[in-house]
Amino acid sequence: MKKITIAIDGFSSTGKSTLAKAIAKTLGYVYIDTGAMYRAVTLFSMRKGFIDAKHFSSEKLIESLDEIQLHFEYNGERGFAEVYLNGENVEDVIRSLEVSKFVSQIAEVKEVRTKLVQQQQNLGKAKGVVMDGRDIGTVVFPDAELKVFMTASTDVRAQRRFDELVVKDPSVIYEDVYTNVVERDRIDTTRKDSPLVKAEDAVELDNSTMSREEQYDLLLQLVRERLK
Ligand code: DC
Repeated sequence: MKKITIAIDGFSSTGKSTLAKAIAKTLGYVYIDTGAMYRAVTLFSMRKGFIDAKHFSSEKLIESLDEIQLHFEYNGERGFAEVYLNGENVEDVIRSLEVSKFVSQIAEVKEVRTKLVQQQQNLGKAKGVVMDGRDIGTVVFPDAELKVFMTASTDVRAQRRFDELVVKDPSVIYEDVYTNVVERDRIDTTRKDSPLVKAEDAVELDNSTMSREEQYDLLLQLVRERLK
């Protein structure tokens, strides 16, 4: 059966990964969360002391890039592939607000992007892949058969992110989450290298008022059209 590449890009907290995981499961495709790769590099940089609230040494990070090994391993219980940093499962620790605060700065480093994009292209070369991120349809797989660009209002996205985080950490403050979403949008859309933009041939999906089922049904319909 024909296999395609599905690129799902868009703003943070638009539900890209939830939708990507669901469709990958239905199709029996591999799901790759590229944001998790940038987050894992961020965690590495934080642990090494390359980045904190006051400074960021991109030079030290660039020098250490060869020390960073990332891979994905499928977790049958959770139903998706989790990310590993140098052999350690970091799928959950990379979701903290702390990592979110620094990740856009790490994702601005050209050498980091080159390394991760290469790995992403390798992971998806056999097709039958659903990849979510910011530059999948524009840079990683410009020839993807299906490209989706997801958006939603800032309020809706901050509330979704807050609801996710507060379960794990009740001290999280909504205003901090909102500020982080706005700040990440700014850095992601204005960075020099591979800024977040909708690919010309991407289908835009604003899910501010859509249910998960409605989004899933729409995506499945788009996949079916591409598989004809
Ligand atoms: O999808 P996410 O929120 O987990 O992504 C974390 C950050 O990584 C996001 O702020 C921008 C960056 N990113 C990127 O620059 N390119 C990608 N393909 C995926 C994520």
